[in-house]
Amino acid sequence: MTGIVLGSGLGQLADEIEVEKIIEYSDIDPSLKSTVEGHKGRFVIGTLDGVRIVAMQGRIHYYEGYSMKQVITPIEYMIKELGVDKLILTNAAGGINESFAPGDLMIIKDHITSFVPSPLIGVDLTPQTGNRFHDMTYTYDRELSELIRIEAEALGRKLKEGVYLQTTGPCYETPAEIRAYRSLGADAVGMSTTVEAAFAHAMGVRVCGVSCITNLAAGMSAEKLSHEEVQITADKTGVFFRKLMRNVICGLKALDIKE
Ligand code: HPA
Repeated sequence: MTGIVLGSGLGQLADEIEVEKIIEYSDIDPSLKSTVEGHKGRFVIGTLDGVRIVAMQGRIHYYEGYSMKQVITPIEYMIKELGVDKLILTNAAGGINESFAPGDLMIIKDHITSFVPSPLIGVDLTPQTGNRFHDMTYTYDRELSELIRIEAEALGRKLKEGVYLQTTGPCYETPAEIRAYRSLGADAVGMSTTVEAAFAHAMGVRVCGVSCITNLAAGMSAEKLSHEEVQITADKTGVFFRKLMRNVICGLKALDIKE
């Protein structure tokens, strides 16, 4: 089954699912309750255009005060309990690459997760994966990423591609941090996703990701950053984004990936 994590402003895709079942995160772990406005905290399980899917409407963030173990609890549940073997991660992000503009979508081709603790610390997946040390060379599945690119082009839009860097948040970055992250090779920055990708990839799940570039990163424009701006741009991009994700999910069938 395919899982999709819906980031800021993108949660409405879950409303298009023909619902079989809804599970609140707090039902699987009473300590999990999303504290961010605009983020629900539940799994929506059902079908979208005939394809079985589970959507995470809202995610658990490290900056909310949760441990990394709690952050990946819903991801772990999707993989172990719901049988998710393909995972689409989405988020809102600040654009670091100078060729990016608010409203762009970026296929995540790689990530930098070095500024946040690994969700795998203290978790020995050897019984499941046969290995304690996980290769991350191809964290983002090339076939799934290519499918996203092709479906976007079919809708008349060329997507950006780049490296996503996760910070702990909840502060946005300083301009000096953004310059440093750019020199490290980051194209976009946000407060989620890499730990989910790392965990799922280590578990053998095929992972892909898309960032909605909601703003230029700190210091790249005269404007200060605000959650409101992030949400307004994510909402505006939402219509195209939902269409794209629907087509990608449908396209999984044609890719001969077994459901
Ligand atoms: N920085 C960090 N997280 C974000 C940003 C940003 O500029 N925009 C959206 N999420």
